Amino acid sequence: MTATAIIDPVTVTPRDLHFANDGAKSNAWLDGDAVGTAVFNALSLTFPDGERLFMDAVRHYRGELSGRLAEDAKAFIAQEAIHSREHVALNGLLDRSHYPIDAIEGEIRGRIKEIRERGPIAMLSVTIALEHFTAMLADSFLSRDSVLNAAPVDVARLWRWHSMEETEHKAVAFDVFLQVTRDWTPRQRQKARNRAMAIVTVLFVRNITHYAAMLLGADGVKPMAAHVRVLWFLFGRPGLFRKSWKTYGDWYRFDFHPWNHDNRDMLNVWRERFPAEAAAARAA
Ligand SMILES: [Fe+2]
Ligand SMILES: [Fe+2]
Repeated sequence: MTATAIIDPVTVTPRDLHFANDGAKSNAWLDGDAVGTAVFNALSLTFPDGERLFMDAVRHYRGELSGRLAEDAKAFIAQEAIHSREHVALNGLLDRSHYPIDAIEGEIRGRIKEIRERGPIAMLSVTIALEHFTAMLADSFLSRDSVLNAAPVDVARLWRWHSMEETEHKAVAFDVFLQVTRDWTPRQRQKARNRAMAIVTVLFVRNITHYAAMLLGADGVKPMAAHVRVLWFLFGRPGLFRKSWKTYGDWYRFDFHPWNHDNRDMLNVWRERFPAEAAAARAA
């Protein structure tokens, strides 16, 4: 399959919902697992500023888009705006008198600012690499053996809604990148993608581990032990990142496109379930 031979287009549909998330008030909401809880909370803390970066990266190039891709870009921005809003609400439930949330958010803002200062195409390159990570995580969260099966039902609902929409729009920023780099040679594109992914991989893994370890530190876990336990959660058991290594590696293929990993069947299962989930979210 070539980079442009995309399977049937997937409709990107923003769903404007609010979530209660009372279950997230516990320090170990993931079935009593403080480490897993810290990893999810660390991810959630990165989302508001991260997703605003994604929105701005795509928004910058909207004038160069037309037709279906222009519509998808608009829906992508709408979805990320709602995700960002709901993760701000979720993060607001974390105990700021106990956890160093302000310090973590300050570090995240500083890192995002550095990316923004490198200009629009750097922002878009980082966005497509991070969207690949989110798509891998979303695939794992929607799967049958998802770690979210052990989460409180309201928290799992938010993460699955987010995962469903991340899956829907996983190729949008990538297709925008293909469009705005249409005058580049394939080799130039490949080089830019590889460079972005190499940097993003190191920073994303290092930062999520660091933020989760800071959260665990507030619970009394020593820094070294906290880092080891978080890395084990990511790469050992349950292996949040390890499970996706093959999809991760596909990024470096010359003909990579996000929909080469065709998980529409799983996506459609959740889309069918979604009206009931949305009704439950509204009632909560
Ligand atoms: Fe999102
Ligand atoms: Fe996204």
